Amino acid sequence: MNDLISLQQCARNGEKLAMLTCYDASFAARMEAAGIDAILVGDTLGMVVQGQTSTLPVSLDEMAYHTSAVARGARHTFLIADLPFGSYQGSPAQALQSAARLLAAGAHCVKLEGGAVMAETVAFLVARGIPVCGHLGLLPQSVHALGGYKVQAKNQDAAQQLHEDAQLLTQCGAGMLVLEAIPAPLAKEVTEHLPIPTIGIGAGAGCSGQVLVLYDMLGITLGKVPRFAHNFLRESADIEHALGAYIQAVKQGHFPTEAHSFMSAGI
Ligand code: KIV
Repeated sequence: MNDLISLQQCARNGEKLAMLTCYDASFAARMEAAGIDAILVGDTLGMVVQGQTSTLPVSLDEMAYHTSAVARGARHTFLIADLPFGSYQGSPAQALQSAARLLAAGAHCVKLEGGAVMAETVAFLVARGIPVCGHLGLLPQSVHALGGYKVQAKNQDAAQQLHEDAQLLTQCGAGMLVLEAIPAPLAKEVTEHLPIPTIGIGAGAGCSGQVLVLYDMLGITLGKVPRFAHNFLRESADIEHALGAYIQAVKQGHFPTEAHSFMSAGI
């Protein structure tokens, strides 16, 4: 069974980490059998399972329900669960209560969105024995403030802010960081300056690992397919082989390519 410490060690050794989102026991079991490094019960479940237009309506009860299903399907895989919108922003104490629900449901780590504003909460959870994964760049729970699902940190100031947020969350004890939809050169530079792994989605090949939304890698995206998605099922005989192909492509550095990445601040 992978834990946060062994995943951090793999990343330090230069091994790329392969992660996927998952929402149920059957897919979780397949992912575990294929050798995935970590599973994320993402709040994207609101969009890909429930058909919502954002992740905002997802509740803590729903996250706990799906986390327990995934945990039953993959008993030996490191499991990260998203703290949903409104379940942690109020106070560190609120975040602790919500994180406890997800850990009781079977998660080994919780993920939360935001930089400096979340520093105190990250430190509070970590001090109480709860592994935390940060999430910087495009923050889907802030979609209305960001004006849509857009590439982030495209100018010098925003890139500098992201650097500082990544350092701060690390100092507060975050064990891992998801970097979403930022220019690949920035993600690479941030990764090179951090002692903890970065997991990219639309952040280029310079991250310590990659995560994709399961339904994107199976080619059943609802609506517009994001630039960073790739349909691994199209090139595979079945789901089992598609999962294996994704893991190998990440580990061998074949995914993502430049075509899946935002290469310059100007794009
Ligand atoms: O909820 C989710 O699926 C995520 C990924 C986009 C990283 O946070």
